[in-house]
Amino acid sequence: MQAFPASGRVPAGAGASPRAPKRNVNAVLLHPATKPLLFVLALVPFGSLLWGAVANTLGANPAEALIRGTGDWTLRFLCLTLAVTPLRQWSGWHALARLRRMLGLFTFFYGCWHFLAFAWLDMGFDLQAILKDIAKRPFILVGSAALLLMTPLAATSFNRAVKALGAARWQALHRLVYGIVLLALLHFFWMRAGKNDFGEWSVYAAIVALLLGWRAWRALRAARAKPVAQRPGASLTS
Ligand code: HEM
Repeated sequence: MQAFPASGRVPAGAGASPRAPKRNVNAVLLHPATKPLLFVLALVPFGSLLWGAVANTLGANPAEALIRGTGDWTLRFLCLTLAVTPLRQWSGWHALARLRRMLGLFTFFYGCWHFLAFAWLDMGFDLQAILKDIAKRPFILVGSAALLLMTPLAATSFNRAVKALGAARWQALHRLVYGIVLLALLHFFWMRAGKNDFGEWSVYAAIVALLLGWRAWRALRAARAKPVAQRPGASLTS
């Protein structure tokens, strides 16, 4: 049985059922306008930063505001992407899954702008200076690794790539996202360590711990629920 109707329409009498709120949220998520709306919403931070740069309202150091602003939004979209599965499993809003690819691609979009802002405004597009800085400052190296690892995920986020790779290989590749989020947190931690300012970082670290902790707990529960014979390493004689 499907968890929600493919048509996106709420069946008659759904309002009377205790599951109605869940079904209503799924119906809203399945509405044809939801994806375009999310697309526009996801562009708001970009528009706001761009407008700030044009109107010169980004404060005393606009270059720093642009680099930091795009970095913040890369991390926020990464957390949002990672939140889809736990939220879907916890709430029963299964239609959230159809928004995950767009959130992931916006993570990459903001990551690319973050790198471009750094390469342009801090380094003047001097490739040698960029490479030197990556080698010299560990937090830049770690951020670069995170963005580099994100590239194959963005490139294979389309249906044709899923088909070409096969579901198992595609899933294995996309597990890189856990490494990416840990590198992103390390990048942010290292950057703030110089100023001994970990307030904001702690909030992101707590969110990531909760999201990854949820997945680990579900995986452990599923492994325990398997009959002993199906567990890896189990044999008839042990
Ligand atoms: C997944 C990839 C990345 C994420 C999630 C990320 C995230 C962040 C975050 C959250 C900040 C702090 C913003 C703030 O203070 O409010 C930041 C700062 C910064 N990041 Fe990244 N970043 C990534 C990749 C990169 C890359 C590839 C570079 C350059 C090669 C880079 C260079 C910088 C610089 C220069 C700063 C500002 C440092 C400062 O103002 O002192 N980041 N990043």
